[in-house]
Amino acid sequence: MKIAAIENPRNRQEELGQFLTAMPVADFMASMFGPLPNTARLLDAGAGAGSLTAAFVSRCCEKRDGIRSIDASLYEVDGQILDALAATMRECERRCTAAGIRFTFTIHSADFIQEMSSRLSGDLFGSMPPAFDVAIANPPYRKISTDSAERRALRSVGVETSNLYTGFIALIQRLLVPSGQLVGITPRSFCNGPYFRPFREDFLSQLELRRLHVFESRKAAFREDSVLQENIIFHAIKGTQQPLEMIVSSSSGEQGADVTETVFPFAEIVHPHDSEKFIHIPSSNGHAAAKETMDGLSASLASLGVTVSTGRVVDFRLKDALRKEPERGTVPLLYPCHFNGGTVHWPKLEARKPNAIMDTAETRQWLVPSGMYLLTKRFTSKEERRRLVACMFDPDQVKTDWIGFENHLNYFHASGHGLERHLATGLYAFLNSTVVDQYFRRFSGHTQVNATDLRALTYPDRDTLQAMGREMTTLDLTQDEIDQLVTKHLHACR
Ligand SMILES: C[S@@+](CC[C@H](N)C(=O)[O-])C[C@H]1O[C@@H](n2cnc3c(N)ncnc32)[C@H](O)[C@@H]1O
Repeated sequence: MKIAAIENPRNRQEELGQFLTAMPVADFMASMFGPLPNTARLLDAGAGAGSLTAAFVSRCCEKRDGIRSIDASLYEVDGQILDALAATMRECERRCTAAGIRFTFTIHSADFIQEMSSRLSGDLFGSMPPAFDVAIANPPYRKISTDSAERRALRSVGVETSNLYTGFIALIQRLLVPSGQLVGITPRSFCNGPYFRPFREDFLSQLELRRLHVFESRKAAFREDSVLQENIIFHAIKGTQQPLEMIVSSSSGEQGADVTETVFPFAEIVHPHDSEKFIHIPSSNGHAAAKETMDGLSASLASLGVTVSTGRVVDFRLKDALRKEPERGTVPLLYPCHFNGGTVHWPKLEARKPNAIMDTAETRQWLVPSGMYLLTKRFTSKEERRRLVACMFDPDQVKTDWIGFENHLNYFHASGHGLERHLATGLYAFLNSTVVDQYFRRFSGHTQVNATDLRALTYPDRDTLQAMGREMTTLDLTQDEIDQLVTKHLHACR
C-alpha cells in the first residue's frame, strides 16, 4: 500500500518522536499477529502517516483468515501529518472493500497520553475508556522528566516511567481486552536498566510475551536518530500467565532477509527469581554458550566481598575544584578518556577533560583512598568491540594517596578501598572476556553499562579469579589470550 511522503523539519520530528516505520518492517510486524477475531477493534496510537494500520489491513486482505470487519482508531498529535493519515485510511477502505472486509476508522487528533490517562483514571466523567482487540504500535521515543505533564498524567493511572514509549505501551496494555494482542516496535532499553524496572513489572504482569524479534545489525535501526539504540519487535497477548516457551527470532534488518527463529523456555528469557525482571534476548549461538557458562558460575559480587559503584565525582557540581593539570594540593581525577588498554594513562594533558581535583575538606567525601581498582566505562561507543571495557587503576603506576573517579566510570572496590591485586586482575580478565560480553548482550541492547547490570552478573569464585589473576603476568593481552585464559580457568573450576 502506498503511504504519502511526509516532510517535517528535523527538530519537530525529534520533539514528536516522529520516526516512521518503513513498509517492509510494518508488514513484518503485521505478520506477527496470531489468529484474529472476526471483528477487530484496532488501536494505532501515535499513528503517523498510518503505515502500521495499512500493513495490518494488507495482512488481513491477503490472508483472508476469517476477519470480516476492522474498526480502526488512530491517535496522532501532529496536525501536519493528519492529511497523509486520512489518505492512507481511505486507501485501507478501498483495499478492504475489494477484499469483502468492512473497514471503519476514526482519526483522533489528540494527545494519546493525556486523553487515555484521563479516561482510564475516570477524570472524564461518563467517558469510559475504549477497548481494543488488537494494537499495533511504533510509539514516539523521548525522555519525559519527572515533573512533565506526561509524567503526571501517567502517574494518575499508576504508570511510573521516564520515556514516552513505555508510557504509550503501558496505556495500550490497559486498553486491550483479555487475550487482545499487541505488536510493538520499541527501543530495547526497557529490557534492562533500573529505570525501566517498574515498567517491566507492569508489562510482564499484564502481557504474555509470545515472541521477540531482534535485528542483528545496529544499522537496521528504523529510527534515524537511534544509532545507539537497538530496536526490538514484540508480540504479546493480554493475560497474566506467561507461556512455558516463546519464540525469539532475528534477522539482519535488510529487506527480504532470512528470519531465524528459535524456541526458548520462558524462564531463560525472564529468570524466575530475578527481582529486576531483566528480559534476556538470546540471539546467536554464542549467546547460548555464554549463558551456559555463566549459569555454571556460583559467586556473586557480594559473596566475593566486592562492590561496584558509579564514580562519585560529578564534575559540573565541583567545577571550582577541577584542574586541567596536576598541581600542589590536587589528586588524580580519572575519566574514561584516561583508559589506555589494560591500565590508565594519567595525566593526559592533551585531553579536553581535567586531570586533577583539589583535595580539600569539601571534596574529600567524593574521593577514594589509593589502591587497586577495576574500572569500567559506563558508556561505550558503538565502534568499541566490547560493551564491557574494563581497565585497572594500579597504585604502583600512579602514585597518590587519594583518587577521584568521575561519574562516567564504574569502579569495583572492597568497602570503599582497593582490591587485593590478584583478585582485581582476575576480575579484569573475566570482565574483558568474550563470554561475559556475549552474555551481557543478551539482556542489554544499548551501549550503557549500569552498575546494576554488573551486580546482576554471576562471577567465578574467589580462588578461580585469583588463579586467573596470578597467571596474568601482564595486562597487555590480546582478546584471544584473555579468552583462552578465562576459558581454561572456568573449565578447571567446574
Ligand atoms: C515513532 S512515530 C511512528 C509513526 C507511525 N506509527 C509509524 O510507525 O510510522 C510516533 C508518532 O507518534 C506521534 N506522537 C507523539 N506524541 C504523541 C502523543 N502524545 N499522542 C499522539 N501521538 C503522538 C508522533 O507525531 C509520531 O507521528
